[in-house]
Amino acid sequence: VVVDCHSHLYPRSYVELLRARAEIPRVAGDRGSERFVIFPEEDVPGGGRPLRSEFWEVGAKLGFMDEHGIDRCVVSLGNPWLDPFVGPESPGLARDLNAELGALGPETGGRIVALGVLPANEVGAAAQTVDEIAATDGLHGAIAGPRICGLTLDDPRLDAVWSALERTALPLFVHPHSAAAVEDLRGWDHVLPLALGFPFETSIAVARLVLGGVLGRFPDLKVLAAHGGGTLPFLAGRFDVAWRAAPALRQRLPRPPSEDLARIHADAVVYHPRALRALVDLVGPERVVFGTDHPFFNADVAPVLAMVRETLGADAEMILGANPKRLFGL
Ligand code: URA
Ligand code: ZN
Repeated sequence: VVVDCHSHLYPRSYVELLRARAEIPRVAGDRGSERFVIFPEEDVPGGGRPLRSEFWEVGAKLGFMDEHGIDRCVVSLGNPWLDPFVGPESPGLARDLNAELGALGPETGGRIVALGVLPANEVGAAAQTVDEIAATDGLHGAIAGPRICGLTLDDPRLDAVWSALERTALPLFVHPHSAAAVEDLRGWDHVLPLALGFPFETSIAVARLVLGGVLGRFPDLKVLAAHGGGTLPFLAGRFDVAWRAAPALRQRLPRPPSEDLARIHADAVVYHPRALRALVDLVGPERVVFGTDHPFFNADVAPVLAMVRETLGADAEMILGANPKRLFGL
């Protein structure tokens, strides 16, 4: 059984919200030739990446799954989620989107289930939305970027959200939003933001979660990091060295950060066997799950599937099917 844990669906109602925006992140262009504009450099006439109907058509998602032998799929709204919608309308938007996403399960005979999205206006509303997600058939977790309600993941004000996620046993998928250090990555269109900015953004988000002691305070919290945990499998040792030389931090966080990092789940969307081996080495094969990032251009499915099978041998089936089922309670 193959389960895709990193797959995006942008309901048309959500695309309309982004179309109504004048500032990035936004959707530009006429219907039929719409473009997804996230990075500052994409915000020029004709700029951005094509937003085709496969972003919102459920039939296209099922066709993609059939084409690649994917049995089930845990779809999530992609960046920028509701992050730009910080007003009092945010919880209502989350409720409508989550109802639409949750309905995919029954609509597709359970082949497509979804993660819910959180409002961006206020932590109490986000925590309450976690409970609503837990009460919605067809929703099996939540997705967020490097900030929740504008707060970085080490902010103690987010404890209400962690507590709700832990209590409801819903995993949180941490996904990049708009690239780290994006000003330093100018000059190469979307290549540097996507190749480097995205994984560093995820790395920073997960590192903040660890340094904030979130996993110590909420030991049963389940976190899934996008794109193999960004750079963390490679940099975990350096993280420990820095921690060792920071006495005040060691008082608050008694374990080396790499021990907490080893408790995080991550997807196998890394495109190279060396990266996959480093990830498995850090978190163990039981915490790695298959994903594609469809419908983005980087959904290079056949090579990723082949890489998982060739690199991991007997563990591959776990990563493709058993781990996703356990993580998302499928
Ligand atoms: N580009 C994005 O903006 N989001 C993704 O999830 C993948 C590529
Ligand atoms: Zn993605």
